[in-house]
Amino acid sequence: MTAQLIDGTAIARKVRDNVKEEVAKRNAAGKPKPGLATVLVGDRVDSAAYVGMKQKACAELGMNSFHNTLPANATQEQVEDLVKKLNADPTVNGILVQLPLPSHLDEERVLQLINIEKDVDGFSPLNIGRLAQKGREPLFVPCTPYGCIYLLKEVGVKISGANAVVLGRSNIVGMPAALLLVQENATVTIVHSRTQNIADVVRRADILIAAIGRTEMVRGDWIKPGAAVIDVGINGVPVLNPDGTPAISEKTGKPKQKLVGDVNFEEAKEVAGFITPVPGGVGPMTIAMLMANTLRAAQIQFP
Ligand code: GUN
Repeated sequence: MTAQLIDGTAIARKVRDNVKEEVAKRNAAGKPKPGLATVLVGDRVDSAAYVGMKQKACAELGMNSFHNTLPANATQEQVEDLVKKLNADPTVNGILVQLPLPSHLDEERVLQLINIEKDVDGFSPLNIGRLAQKGREPLFVPCTPYGCIYLLKEVGVKISGANAVVLGRSNIVGMPAALLLVQENATVTIVHSRTQNIADVVRRADILIAAIGRTEMVRGDWIKPGAAVIDVGINGVPVLNPDGTPAISEKTGKPKQKLVGDVNFEEAKEVAGFITPVPGGVGPMTIAMLMANTLRAAQIQFP
């Protein structure tokens, strides 16, 4: 292996420790505990698991979390009424509506209702709009892209002037990651489903952020030697026995799964200068940055 491993778990722990310390200082000064309200609509198992991790992190860091669930058939009005109630609640500093929402709901209308001072996900049109404009500061930056940039800075990768390639243009990761890289003075290319000669584009990247949701799509020979590779992908794949048959879990009787990224790690680590593992790379950073954003929300609302 030639690449330096970027240990997201350790870096996220440092961020969380700092947040915990600041929260304790605020408590000691008699200020109210930061509070995060989560909104889960429907019964997606993955979304419920993510929200559960966010609540657990709040508890560990001395913050309040308020969990709100609505059924999968909730109406637009029910979701909007809940957001309005949370906007008006002074114990709630941050509001996180877990995405995706069920398809009958208008996500944009829900997100734009969130008070900008409580928009700890940074997805309200106002925060994203500010991120897209020169000289304007968003109050909050979306957590996963924020975590990606934090990792690059933490290991000393120079972003200014670098050729950065972002694989994927989702609202949650790809597009805000590209905007953040522009803010950091990188030259940015966004690769998407209509991009031609993707491998050649990726080969020019000094910094690659892969967030396209395609299992191990990026091969080792796509990586520029010495590049920094940030893999946001979280893809479940079957674990195989040495004879190639699917391994079965003794506990559950079901096929065993493991998580891999959008980058073929085994190949890429021999070429890259820096690389994040999956799991243990970007994943822990998303929650750490959400905690940092929630603390910031409390600091804005109760300085
Ligand atoms: N779904 C996947 N990632 C995220 C995230 O960072 N925030 C929210 N609200 N939903 C998500």
